[in-house]
Amino acid sequence: MAYNVANTNQNNDAVSEIKNRLDIVDVVSEHLVLKKSGRNYWGCCPFHSEKTPSFSVNPDKGIFKCFGCGVGGDAISFLMKINNSTFFEVISDLANKFGIELPAFGQTSEKTELKNKIYEINLETANYFNKILLENPEGIHAKEYLFKRDIDREIIQKFNIGYSLKQPDDLINHLIDNLKVSYDLLDKAGLISARTSGNGYVDRFRNRIMIPIQDDKGNIIAFGARTLDNSQNPKYLNSPDTVVFNKSRSLFALHQAKDSIRSLDSVIIMEGYFDVITAHANGLTNVVATLGTALTEQHIKMLARYTDSRRIYLGFDADDAGVNATSRGAEIIKSVFSGLGDIKQFDENFVSTGDINNRSSCEIRVVATNTGKDPDEFIRNEGIEAYKKLVNNSPLLIDYQINRIINSKGEIQSPQDKANLTKQLIPILSEIKNAIIRDEYIRLVSERLEINEESLSIEVKKSLQKSIPSRADFKQIVTKNSEKHILAQKNLLGLYFINNENVSTLCINDYLKEVMFLEPTYELLRQEIIRLTEKFEKKHSGNDYAEELTEELLTKFADNEEVKQIIADVIFSLDDKKCLNDKLIRQYIIENITYIQRHVALREQDELRSEYYARKDDELSSLQLQYKVKELIQLSQVRLEKIHD
Ligand code: UTP
Ligand code: MN
Repeated sequence: MAYNVANTNQNNDAVSEIKNRLDIVDVVSEHLVLKKSGRNYWGCCPFHSEKTPSFSVNPDKGIFKCFGCGVGGDAISFLMKINNSTFFEVISDLANKFGIELPAFGQTSEKTELKNKIYEINLETANYFNKILLENPEGIHAKEYLFKRDIDREIIQKFNIGYSLKQPDDLINHLIDNLKVSYDLLDKAGLISARTSGNGYVDRFRNRIMIPIQDDKGNIIAFGARTLDNSQNPKYLNSPDTVVFNKSRSLFALHQAKDSIRSLDSVIIMEGYFDVITAHANGLTNVVATLGTALTEQHIKMLARYTDSRRIYLGFDADDAGVNATSRGAEIIKSVFSGLGDIKQFDENFVSTGDINNRSSCEIRVVATNTGKDPDEFIRNEGIEAYKKLVNNSPLLIDYQINRIINSKGEIQSPQDKANLTKQLIPILSEIKNAIIRDEYIRLVSERLEINEESLSIEVKKSLQKSIPSRADFKQIVTKNSEKHILAQKNLLGLYFINNENVSTLCINDYLKEVMFLEPTYELLRQEIIRLTEKFEKKHSGNDYAEELTEELLTKFADNEEVKQIIADVIFSLDDKKCLNDKLIRQYIIENITYIQRHVALREQDELRSEYYARKDDELSSLQLQYKVKELIQLSQVRLEKIHD
């Protein structure tokens, strides 16, 4: 969501005042160790896992860029990314810190106010329910229910668990009396529902165990509510999505778990509230749960902030639903980290090539209780040590998948069974990237299925060869092909930042006015640069304003992460162009413009070609199209020649 904050004049002043007070080296240093080398500082990137520093900070221009994972921007971008905050949140935090007033944040501030109000209402609600549970005589059976599930006072307090009374408007009355809130606000908080008959509202939660759901900062954003007896439906009633609550972006107990996730460098994801509560009650605290939804990309991105090695244990229930959730969850995790390398596919003790493991993008392990019990029951029946042992011995995803397939048919397997199982195993085996490991697995599998190793190996190789690129691979191929013209756009923009006496910006402007940049964001940036340089050129004599230009751009686009990322990319990729002379610079410009033009021409031709195929049965129109294609090719030729002149 783009806030128009930076574009109102008053806020523009406030934002640039805040930017002036920020020192990027200070800001970044709070999160990682930086070392000075040349003009820049270097450190290990906090946004992806690495052992050698590829994260660079340029103090003169106030920007950073990671050469490993590609992220970049200014100090505000850094704070947004590291705290997972919005532009508005970062700016208001900093304004608070520096004692700067933010005059015209308008609409956004209303939303923040609403959010804060809901946090306040939710906290009061949780405390009220907790007090009823512990002190109200009507809460006794709820307390007994919890004690029966081995939930003691300490854990009740840790999670601020409560109980909602049966009276239909008990909470409404309490909140209206104590916080003077409106029905409208209670509705927005998701705490009340309209009466099904007649007018007015009733409490949404009645006669239920109340479990507050917090965000990672500890604000209460929603409630999960369990019935006391199984005749009441549904078993769990959750808050609806509100301005502060989105199920697919929230994880139960992340606030309580985040420190241990960080220190243990791993996280266990379970399905249910009580699985997590029981684990925490027994001292296993790097545990969170989804909220009755499938695992989403957002969940995984949130967790990735706390575990560097991205070691994720899937501790779902042992039933069919849990097994399905495991495979779907694993696919989501893989896709989130797909750009960062391969998933870990073997254990150190299995093959001793430790360094290959360092390159893995993530590690997925499956903790299956295999007894039909969920983690809550397992821990209470078998003890926490047994569960920890299960976690420590849990197989990697690939081993889990292979074992599941092999074991699915029991001990005795007919030839048909074997053929069928092999068919399921081949895609998994051909996913193994390392050939040595793959052969090792082929050997193990053929031994267990008592089939010929050679034949299995041949089948896997066939599948490797014909494996069509998956959607993720395809995306990469597409970006690779298009990279050249993107790079060309970056190169051209880079010319403005090099303080080269041989290059007059007005002369670059003349060239660049002829080409249209393809990506709207690049085009936006190009136009703004042209505008600013024309302004500068009037008041400066030389073109030594690269720093001023950077600063003006970063302020103008303070709330546009995409543009700031491009600025960081451009500036960090400037190399020796400083010493290029007039003639070479000219050549360089032409070369880059050519890439862009060629891309445009190819794209237009592609479009026409597919139109041609679509219409090839209609002779007349296909003939017309052929002429059009020819024309187009000539046109792009002319365009290029014009530039070369
Ligand atoms: P389960 O049905 O596995 O419940 O649902 P559970 O966690 O074992 O609950 P107990 O032990 O009987 O108390 C797992 C999760 O799915 C969501 C909840 O988040 C629950 O913790 N769920 C389940 C709902 O949202 N609504 C329901 O009606 C049931
Ligand atoms: Mn359960």
